[in-house]
Parts: sequence; C-alpha cells; structure tokens
Amino acid sequence: MPLQPLLQPFDSGKLAPRVGSVILPHGETIDDAAARALIENAAAADFDLVWIEASRKLETTLLDDRGTIVELHGDRDTALSKVRLVALRYDVRELESEADWATLEELMRFAPTSRFASDPHIPQASFRRHKLSLLQAHVQNRDGLVSFAHPTGDATRAVGYHCTSLDADRNVVFYDLAVDPEFRRGFVALNLISYNLERVAATHPDARRLTVRIYDDNIASLRLFANLGLEPTGRQFHYYHCWPKDTH
Ligand SMILES: CC(C)(COP(=O)(O)OP(=O)(O)OC[C@H]1O[C@@H](n2cnc3c(N)ncnc32)[C@H](O)[C@@H]1OP(=O)(O)O)[C@@H](O)C(=O)NCCC(=O)NCCS
Repeated sequence: MPLQPLLQPFDSGKLAPRVGSVILPHGETIDDAAARALIENAAAADFDLVWIEASRKLETTLLDDRGTIVELHGDRDTALSKVRLVALRYDVRELESEADWATLEELMRFAPTSRFASDPHIPQASFRRHKLSLLQAHVQNRDGLVSFAHPTGDATRAVGYHCTSLDADRNVVFYDLAVDPEFRRGFVALNLISYNLERVAATHPDARRLTVRIYDDNIASLRLFANLGLEPTGRQFHYYHCWPKDTH
C-alpha cells in the first residue's frame, strides 16, 4: 500500500503552507520505489512539505536525511542530587510577561540545529515562529515551565532559557534548552536545569522519571545529560523531509 501523508495542522502555515507527516511502524523502512510512490501521493494531495519519522535508517536517498534523535531517561532525584552541588552563578526566573516571549524568540538564535532549522527550504524566522508556538502551547496548557538565566543583578540581559514540560505519562521532559555562546561552559545550563527541576519537584512530586531527546551529533548536550545520570533507552528517531512539489 503506497504511503499517504497525514495533514499536520500545527506545522502547516508556519513551516510551509501545507505540511504532512508519515510515521512508520517500528522496524519498517522505505526503499526507492516506496519513496517515489510517497512523493507522487504527496504531490497529488497538494502537500508542500512531508516529514517522515522512522525507527531505523531508510534505504533510499530520495528523501532528505534531516538527522537522528536519541532518547535518554533518568531519575529526578539522582539529577537533583547532582545539580544541587553546582554553585548558583546566575539569577534564574520564570517567564512572567508577554514581553518575555520576545526575549525568548531572541534567544532561539542559540537553539540547537533541528530537522526544521537545518532544512534550507525553511526560513529561520519561520522555524523560530513554529518553535515559539510549541512553547506557548506548553505554557498555555499549564504542562510546561519556561525559565531565563541572567547574569547576577542584570535582569536586562538574558543569556539562556530552558523549557521543561510534563508528558501524558507524567515524565519530566527537558523540552528545550539554549545558552548564548558567549556564556557557555559557565554552568548556565546547569543553573537553569536546577531551577526547573526544583520547581517541578515542588509542584508535581509524583513526576520522577526524566526524559530528553537529543540529536545524536550534539555532543555537548549528550554529555550534559549523561552527567545528570540520564542514559540512552535505545530508542532512535530518524527524520526525513521531502518537498513533493520540488521533487515531483
Ligand atoms: C548544551 C548547552 C545548553 C550547554 O550549556 P552550558 O551553559 O554551556 O552548559 P554548562 O556550562 O552548564 O555545562 C554543564 C556540563 O555539560 C557538558 N558540556 C557542556 N558543553 C559542553 C561541550 N561543549 N563539550 C562537552 N561537554 C559539554 C559538560 O559536562 C559540562 O560540565 P563541565 O563544564 O563541568 O564539564 C549549550 O552548549 C547550548 O546552548 N548548545 C546549543 C543548544 C543545544 O544544543 N541545546 C540542548 C538541546 S537538547
């Protein structure tokens, strides 16, 4: 059966006019013939962008490889015992006003390269608008917490942000984290994680399992979370894009 993309209303209009997705069942792959049929179907259904998620690398070069994400799990109290050893060098506060969303958008310049950020078809401004709306949805649904780090006593300069959320299984998800390159390796990230974890432990004491998804080439982030006791689960998410109208 040729693959048929599903419409993604949340992505559509932000990343491209009409976005579809295909999430392959575990272990399944796509060869060149299946990729061609998928592109035909997507073009016929008028999709501009289709993203594909697979549990293994695909056997085709007709779809653009946009990277691999690995999943790590850990324990909240283990991570808390480690971050409590780190000196607090930055003022950390929660997002509190409408103006803070503009600060967040500024800081997103420092966000990691993701499948959408690295796609040359997608302007950076579109990618940031999309990501901002994801974070806003978390805060509005009250399942997410966004914090900022400032040099002590200088509330005018934000040098990093971190969003922590809770998933449907009440896992604590390290959702998004970025630090201004000028301030890296100075414990900004650890100060932000410390703040968010303490807040989540106070508001959701039952949420003890930690989870994070990281691109497999993001050495800094993999090391950061490994040092907090998080370990790979073995689950991997391989992402591909196709632009059916360009490739048709
Ligand atoms: C990953 C990132 C958030 C780390 O921020 P940071 O403030 O520099 O991190 P910290 O100073 O708190 O470092 C904490 C630990 O993380 C690890 N780490 C951080 N940067 C590292 C690097 N460049 N190389 C190797 N390990 C690194 C180290 O174990 C470090 O502890 P140490 O300095 O005692 O060895 C930052 O590099 C960044 O913004 N990168 C781009 C965005 C990104 O990848 N975000 C994470 C998405 S999941």
